[in-house]
Amino acid sequence: MSEDKKSGNSKPKDDPAGFHKGLTSYGDSGFSLFLRKAFIKGAGFTDNSLDRPVIGIANTGSAFNPCHGNMPQLIEAVKRGVMLAGGLPMDFPTISIHESFASPTSMYLRNLMSIDTEEMIRAQPMDAVVMIGGCDKTVPAQLMGAASAGIPAIQLVTGSMLTGSHRSERVGACTDCRRYWGKYRADEIDGEEIADVNNQLVASVGTCSVMGTASTMACVTEALGMMLPGGAAPAAVTADRIRVAERTGATAVAMAISGLTPDKIMTGKAFENALRVLLAIGGSTNGIIHLTAVAGRMGIEIDLERLDALGRETPVLIDLKPSGQYYMEDFHHAGGMHALLRELKPLLHLDAMTVTGRTLGEELEAAGPGFKQTVVRPFGDPIYPQGGIAVLRGNLAPGGAIIKQSAADPVLMEHEGRAVVFENLEDLAARIDDDALDVTADDILVLKHIGPTGASMPEAGYIPIPKKLARAGVKDMVRISDGRMSGTAAGTIVLHVTPEAAIGGPLAYVMNGDRIRLSVQQRAIGLLVSDAELAARAKANPVKTPSAERGYRKLFLSTVTQADKGVDFDFLRPAAMTERIPRDRTKD
Ligand code: FES
Repeated sequence: MSEDKKSGNSKPKDDPAGFHKGLTSYGDSGFSLFLRKAFIKGAGFTDNSLDRPVIGIANTGSAFNPCHGNMPQLIEAVKRGVMLAGGLPMDFPTISIHESFASPTSMYLRNLMSIDTEEMIRAQPMDAVVMIGGCDKTVPAQLMGAASAGIPAIQLVTGSMLTGSHRSERVGACTDCRRYWGKYRADEIDGEEIADVNNQLVASVGTCSVMGTASTMACVTEALGMMLPGGAAPAAVTADRIRVAERTGATAVAMAISGLTPDKIMTGKAFENALRVLLAIGGSTNGIIHLTAVAGRMGIEIDLERLDALGRETPVLIDLKPSGQYYMEDFHHAGGMHALLRELKPLLHLDAMTVTGRTLGEELEAAGPGFKQTVVRPFGDPIYPQGGIAVLRGNLAPGGAIIKQSAADPVLMEHEGRAVVFENLEDLAARIDDDALDVTADDILVLKHIGPTGASMPEAGYIPIPKKLARAGVKDMVRISDGRMSGTAAGTIVLHVTPEAAIGGPLAYVMNGDRIRLSVQQRAIGLLVSDAELAARAKANPVKTPSAERGYRKLFLSTVTQADKGVDFDFLRPAAMTERIPRDRTKD
């Protein structure tokens, strides 16, 4: 009997599987296999185990990543699922990235993690891969890697952390982290209380408990079809999460046998579903960058104008912080993604394929009817009438900028003010709390040089309210930058200004006292300075784009793309894009 028949693998006979694939090059394939078997037998494996479909498990456990603190239990459960389904589980390490432990930014390392993931999937003999991620950049990095590697792949997330309680008020990372820090900066609470709340914000291992980037990426990955239905919402330390892990392992074996590769799942329709969900959950603005990067790997371009049109017809339905009031564990108790997808059904492509081998529509059908709950609103009674994210254009951002309108102050969304400019992060740190800073609540704070090239795009777009204004009770101001913002943050904050200042975008030439006009209604962000004046400023003070002599930083600075291309490296994207989404529905 051939090896393929013994393993039950339905792939063509001449397509080697399991331990027979991807042999190390010694110029003698028989010897290569002989040697490989000798080494794996050294770990105690039998010939019987070596004839099964091999399921790789990308292990991103790290002492530096508490968001992945349940990794050992998840790997054990995935392995159990793989073995129950007749496969051989093989876990392997890749880079792990935690938001608070990565310097200068986690974004700087996302593409490196995607390369690591892709190359380890390619290099090692596996028929399918389970990728376990969770913290913000890890899931997009894994999806990017899987998209490029091309073998059957399924995403598992670590799940959200539990909420804590501070003096009987429920708290969770990290919207409440920012809220309490804002109170501390405004002298509303003292040093003892801020230390107390620090103990309660992160009540267990797992990812941030609000609709930040990690939760956003979990939800959009389920909508994309790359995760088991019901896999996004269970908390990290629950039995539900472990059961999802076991089922993920079993599903990976089925995918290996059927050859269900990412290109059959991550189609243009699937990305449109994911974008719908991103808008309907009031998801993190980072979700746009990450989905753009993952889609880019599949040759699919995301059109920001059409995304905005999609947003105008997609209400925010999930009442989670920072746009609403609840936490991820409440979302799970309310039915999780099934509850949301049921409401969005008329707007979704129900024929999009999922990892189960069934379509999104078939999975929704199988999930049955919902039940009464308050976390996911009915389509006709949203918490915000339009999608959470709006796309802005104007002479300040010719390549686009975005604002999370569902988390902004409605009063400030139509606003004209005087620019108070910070040249970079160092300038911001040096002057933002200076009592001599010339700033009022009506001004617009502008922070330059925090784009992809300028500073590897830190989540510093949430510029703090100057201390003297915070003390006077100011809670929000219009803020503009070429950087990003944590998905857990809220405010009237314009982000991802493209092109960025560091490559000579108009943002580089904004000066203190310039007038800026923001109109979310008209989707406009304008610098009220003439083109001739901007050209004169550029000539007088040309921008010096950062560069590096060696190493990963050289690679990063010489190949990173702008926000509208997902901040991916240019050489990791296909030479040509073959599809543009969202499709123009007026032409259907
Ligand atoms: Fe890891 Fe928020 S810091 S998910």
